Amino acid sequence: MDKNYKTAIGMMSGTSMDGIDAALVRIFNDFSFEILNTHSLDYPQEIRKKLLEIANNKGLTADICFMDFVVGKLFAQCANELLEKSNIKAGEVDYIASHGQTVFHSPQPQEIGGISTGSTLQIGNISVIAQLTGIKTIGDFRSKDIAAGGQGAPLVPFADELIFKKDKNRAIQNIGGIGNVTVLSKECDTFAFDTGPGNMLIDYFVQKLFDKPFDKNGEIASCGNVDEKWLNELLKEPYYSLEPPKSTGRELFNENYAKKIYKTAPDNKNNVITTLTALTAKTIFDAYEKFVFPRTDIEQIVLGGGGAYNCTLIKFLEHYFKNRLEIKTHNDFNINDKFKEALAFAMLGFCTIEKIPSNLTHCTGAKKRVIMGITACP
Ligand SMILES: Nc1ncnc2c1ncn2[C@@H]1O[C@H](COP(=O)(O)OP(=O)(O)O)[C@@H](O)[C@H]1O
Ligand SMILES: [Mg+2]
Repeated sequence: MDKNYKTAIGMMSGTSMDGIDAALVRIFNDFSFEILNTHSLDYPQEIRKKLLEIANNKGLTADICFMDFVVGKLFAQCANELLEKSNIKAGEVDYIASHGQTVFHSPQPQEIGGISTGSTLQIGNISVIAQLTGIKTIGDFRSKDIAAGGQGAPLVPFADELIFKKDKNRAIQNIGGIGNVTVLSKECDTFAFDTGPGNMLIDYFVQKLFDKPFDKNGEIASCGNVDEKWLNELLKEPYYSLEPPKSTGRELFNENYAKKIYKTAPDNKNNVITTLTALTAKTIFDAYEKFVFPRTDIEQIVLGGGGAYNCTLIKFLEHYFKNRLEIKTHNDFNINDKFKEALAFAMLGFCTIEKIPSNLTHCTGAKKRVIMGITACP
């Protein structure tokens, strides 16, 4: 008898470029799931630096070509470490679904020689992953949606619908490098958009001013005050007023952006981090006020991504939202916050194999639903 589930590894590395998160999961035919184990592999400093260079449009073509294979090897290493610590053999895994590492995402059509198109590039070569793990590997999830006229993002809302159903009106708020929300409501179609910076600007300034990779648990931010004048200045960024569907990334909130805003930053370096942490929370709140609440009430926010561990950020969210809604995290639903997106890509990979369209056109703007992802066999 055919088994009614697939065993998969979902892998994700987001805009933070902190490293790779992998989840070993069992996905059943009705899309229920079990997370069997998880594993993370931090990017070595040198590799992160090179990836940031490329993402900031300062890399050479040769760098992109080389790093595609380097990152492919790291994804394979991460998957193999996960298998080893789980005592599972490659032969027992049906597929790997790898998002890869986005190095550029340009959803708005650009024109050259009479041809107009959006574009996106995730590196971490799937042939390399398939070879080094011995497991069929699915990747390049975003291209087909762009080819169908969409933005190629966001893709996680498809998984959010399956995970949370619509038994309550919820905002699933991921706080990775960028903040993004999926709105699940009985009153409207699922919609989603990027709220603005998540941890990206916080990370940049914690590294620059405190020589630490990120603000663990929001401790640095908890020691400072919000500089309201600077915060109001930062809130003038036009992205925040754009109507959804919209998505953003390092193409906007990059090193140049950080350098520009630093010119008007407060002298006290704790206050810089506190204000940027408040910025993430305030832009989330403002985005809901402008674009979510007019369409539907929300009873609950479910936070996810690394930002869900930032206690100061959560305090700011509680402050802005007051008691208007309940604030939970994925952990409250037995899904580790850090691995939710890895789980989401495992679900998208399941759809590739089962030939199920997995883009939500309301979210990406694509003209039609398409089966996403391409496959490399070992
Ligand atoms: N314990 C923690 N406290 C505060 N922030 C954290 C913690 N752990 C992770 N983060 C933040 O989350 C980021 C990584 O989040 P992640 O969800 O992996 O984002 P991405 O999808 O962009 O890679 C880190 O760069 C850091 O800013
Ligand atoms: Mg990450």
